[in-house]
Amino acid sequence: MNNWAVVYTSVTGNTEKLAKAMAEELGCDCFTTDNAPEDLSKYDVIVAGYWLRLGGPADKMKAFLQKINNKTVVFFQTHGAYAGSEHAITSFARAGSMLGEDCYVLGTFSLQGELNPALIAKRSNMPQDKHHGATPENIARWEAAKGHPDENDLIKAKEFIREMTGRYARMLQRMKK
Ligand SMILES: Cc1cc2nc3c(=O)[nH]c(=O)nc-3n(C[C@H](O)[C@H](O)[C@H](O)COP(=O)(O)O)c2cc1C
Repeated sequence: MNNWAVVYTSVTGNTEKLAKAMAEELGCDCFTTDNAPEDLSKYDVIVAGYWLRLGGPADKMKAFLQKINNKTVVFFQTHGAYAGSEHAITSFARAGSMLGEDCYVLGTFSLQGELNPALIAKRSNMPQDKHHGATPENIARWEAAKGHPDENDLIKAKEFIREMTGRYARMLQRMKK
């Protein structure tokens, strides 16, 4: 079995739930960006999870991504934006651009995570801001995020990471040929 590690950053616990579900499925080490080892040489695959801030990985993950060199990487992220939205997709591209040298992105997993009620309260006071304020579209988006990740999301996260192990094995086979 190749050696995988999950490394994540999370403030309100959404990303952490996914991180723990994936690490449990993989039976692998799981670290926060604060306690991740400096030396990643024993790991073949880094599963890196973060929440979105300013349309990209939160700062602690930005710093960590720069330290990853010569690894296969899987990204997962939680965010207020809808999964599959341009915002969510572009943030993966931003995360990829932050990696160190010679990394290969094996796959990505993304879903909405409930917004901090304090943030919603703040944004409710800026109805004129169509990107962040309490417009009908944004209120619907905040509502859709409520309660996520839920049990079903965790099942999907586990299925996803299982699929990644298969994809990685096939990649190694192809490299041998
Ligand atoms: C200060 C702040 C900035 C945020 N910025 C974004 C953003 O740019 N895009 C987005 O889709 N979600 C944004 N969110 C929503 C969070 O990414 C989302 O709720 C996430 O699931 C939180 O993850 P956590 O519980 O692991 O901390 C922001 C939340 C906060 C508190």
